[in-house]
Amino acid sequence: MIIDTHAHYDDKAFDEDREELFLQFSGNGLEKGVNASATVESLERTLQLTKQYPVVYGMLGIHPDEIGALTKEHMDWMRIHAADPKIVAIGEIGLDYHWNVESKEVQKHWFKEQIALAKEVGLPICVHSRDAAADTLALIKEENAAEAGGVIHCFSYGVEIAREYLALGFYFGIGGVVTFKNGRKCKEVVEMLPLDRIVLETDAPYLAPEPYRGKRNESAYLSYVATEIAAMKGLTTEQVIEATRENAYRVYPKLKN
Ligand code: NI
Repeated sequence: MIIDTHAHYDDKAFDEDREELFLQFSGNGLEKGVNASATVESLERTLQLTKQYPVVYGMLGIHPDEIGALTKEHMDWMRIHAADPKIVAIGEIGLDYHWNVESKEVQKHWFKEQIALAKEVGLPICVHSRDAAADTLALIKEENAAEAGGVIHCFSYGVEIAREYLALGFYFGIGGVVTFKNGRKCKEVVEMLPLDRIVLETDAPYLAPEPYRGKRNESAYLSYVATEIAAMKGLTTEQVIEATRENAYRVYPKLKN
């Protein structure tokens, strides 16, 4: 059974058929899914979804493009609700120098604060990093984020940076990009990564794998990602699904709740 470790089911793209998708989970070979918060509005929404649907877990955190709206009150709210049995991580948090919606200094400030929160509440982190390889790695090291551990989500850098995160004990979120014809960098990383550090993730509604590229993504499409990884590593799809499922439980222990 597949675990989708990172999706945005609260997105309006799922307003029409969200419940239907969750009810079809087991029929589609899906065990559980983790809703990743990104905006301040999605914090409450994520918690609601975990309470409403047995297959949905959640992570609480604010995406670097959205941190302009983050306040101390939101941090206090996250601190309280991080104790909820179905909140498995603090995320998605990080740095995004591609869009640069907020200044680098503001992004770094809140990334540090949210790492500190994760360590305080004893949860792993889920990291978003785009066009910010050096600063993300430096900050992760400075703040000793390895103590919290977690996943580098939608890993978009090369093999050398991947080795650094491997050495720090982090896991790698792999999704649709590995199936893209122009996804060579991602394929190289996956070839190098040991299977016991890979978790499957959709980032739905974004980044649908081939043959659905460009369409709305959903957790059921992760079988295409598993098949691609299996082909690259000379394994069966089932072996990849089983290994990544175990990895998900190891990196996010509260998924067992
Ligand atoms: Ni995401």
